[in-house]
Amino acid sequence: MSRHGFRGEILSVPRDPLRHDDAIRHLADGLLVVEGGRVCAIGPYATLAPRFAGLTIEPLAGLIVPGFVDTHVHYPQLGAIAAHGGQLLEWLERHIFPAEAAFADPDHAARMARLFCDALLRHGTTSALVFATVHPGSVEALFREALARDMRLIAGKVLMDLGPDGLRDGAESGLAESAALIARWRGRGRLGYAVTPRFALTSSPDQLTGAGALLARHPDILLHTHIAENRAEIDAVAAAFPQDRDYLAVYERFGLVGPRSVFAHGVHLAPDAMARLAAAGSGIAFCPSSNLFLGSGLFDLAAADAAGVRVGLGSDIGAGTSLSMLATCGEAYKIGQLRGDTLDPFRALYLATAGGAALLGLEDRIGGLRPGQDADFVQLDPAATPLLALRTAGRPLAERLFALHVLGDDRAVAATFLAGRRAATRETGAFR
Ligand code: GUN
Ligand code: ZN
Repeated sequence: MSRHGFRGEILSVPRDPLRHDDAIRHLADGLLVVEGGRVCAIGPYATLAPRFAGLTIEPLAGLIVPGFVDTHVHYPQLGAIAAHGGQLLEWLERHIFPAEAAFADPDHAARMARLFCDALLRHGTTSALVFATVHPGSVEALFREALARDMRLIAGKVLMDLGPDGLRDGAESGLAESAALIARWRGRGRLGYAVTPRFALTSSPDQLTGAGALLARHPDILLHTHIAENRAEIDAVAAAFPQDRDYLAVYERFGLVGPRSVFAHGVHLAPDAMARLAAAGSGIAFCPSSNLFLGSGLFDLAAADAAGVRVGLGSDIGAGTSLSMLATCGEAYKIGQLRGDTLDPFRALYLATAGGAALLGLEDRIGGLRPGQDADFVQLDPAATPLLALRTAGRPLAERLFALHVLGDDRAVAATFLAGRRAATRETGAFR
């Protein structure tokens, strides 16, 4: 197997800085050695290079960080980003359900899957947990596209037998379609499957029961849904499930709350629910730009941290306003400001990389640029715009990183590498 080296300034945060003093790995002049798509070695150039005589070494200007992990995103909503008006339930009816209905057409799904993977890579996102639509073909289209690029994506067909006209499956047929997708795609490339009930309001008790059974039957798949995002949504769940003490209890009753469960939002969770999530080993995808855009509320990261709930960051396109995990870090900081909590830039980078990986059960595979992990990484350009250049030139690492979060987006991603190969550059876009 051929080896290839990349030389440059390298930053990774493989462990949570909140819990580990030595979490930040920074190499001012580092060498990343890749073999067979994996990180083979990483360290200071001066000490590592002599151990790899004859190695082809490519210099990368700027800052090398692990590929970003988006822990909650809806690929079919890419074309519905920035849709004006309404909080969650009204916005879904007006903008999102019509956009998703269009995915009954496999050609449309194929076009949008391609566009989505291109866009992820241009933004430096190399892994994601993705909502498709109710149509099995929407998952097929996305998996085909991700497989062709060797991306590590996890996705699932949306279960919604109580959905609106034109966007409904059957309790049984939806589960059978999910099982068929698992059988067909399991083990292919770097793909993974998530059982994906939209939320408690759009699945019947029968379908939720089946979703729990499917999850129990397949130890390698995730559960991906929404929880406690919006006040009106929470009231509607309380009315629909009067026997359950809170929103989380609905999912608990159907066996959907465990160590492989990822819940998007969790903006309005009481301390008791946070504690139950922590005890179950479940995690939350914090989606700051979405929570601001829909006026959902301010996620309490400090409460999740205190309870010991695992957290990752999600763009939540199309409610989110940017696919950039840099920008998502910036929005998470602003939510912290509104709550009186200051999000550290290295912690934000952890949440956008290794923390997200841990949420998806992929901490051994991605997120930390550790030896043995997939060589998915991003070359950031701290001088991508005149303002970024002004704010980062000659500044300490923490300031440069924070400026990238607040001022950066896809323009700051010079190149994205999948398994050690250039998968996109700012100049050319993504390759396929
Ligand atoms: N809750 C149920 N469906 C959705 C969705 O598509 N987006 C968001 N943000 N919340 C949801
Ligand atoms: Zn969502």
